[in-house]
Amino acid sequence: MRNIVILISGGGSNMAAIVKTAKRDNWQAHYGAKVAAVISNRADAAGLMLARQQGIATQVLEHGSYSSREAFDAALAMEIDQHDQPGQPALLVLAGFMRILTPAFVARYGGRLLNIHPSLLPAFPGLHTHQKALQAGCRFAGATVHQVTADLDQGLILAQALVPILPGDDPHQLAARVLTQEHLIYPRAIAAWLENQGAEA
Ligand code: GRF
Repeated sequence: MRNIVILISGGGSNMAAIVKTAKRDNWQAHYGAKVAAVISNRADAAGLMLARQQGIATQVLEHGSYSSREAFDAALAMEIDQHDQPGQPALLVLAGFMRILTPAFVARYGGRLLNIHPSLLPAFPGLHTHQKALQAGCRFAGATVHQVTADLDQGLILAQALVPILPGDDPHQLAARVLTQEHLIYPRAIAAWLENQGAEA
């Protein structure tokens, strides 16, 4: 069994889309994989409730309770590693997880750490991507699923989706349009990752 651990900080709509697709497409039978846990760095993340409703174990690790970034990441790693199975380390999925991870943490999960970013990378890494795309006069925006490396939003691109920018769009309207595509490409990219792992095993 390959356990999937999802890290969130907020609404958790990407997490919910992944959970829904995993059930609908029976990832357990196809890939021997399941969403085992959802971890949030904020106790008030709305996504925690969504996860609990789906019967998924949740855990809160409030980053403010730790003395340093390193201490928080070490505690997080301990939680995640509980979901490793013999020969099958957990797949770690960042879904609106608003924390910069330390290089040591990223190195530990290298190759099995995925993120979604609401822009067409390599354009507009970091925050406020929709506002930046509008200000730049882009005609298209989108989302990118990528592997996480020590350089923010720069790992290998696994999937992208494109959406038009419409006249009069504000950042909220654009974000909502991009988010609907995120919900499609993230589960699909995870399924492809699981499929490839099976092929390599
Ligand atoms: C998504 O747009 C994600 O790409 C970004 O933050 C948002 C999180 O949304 N990093 P949700 O928590 O999955 O609803």
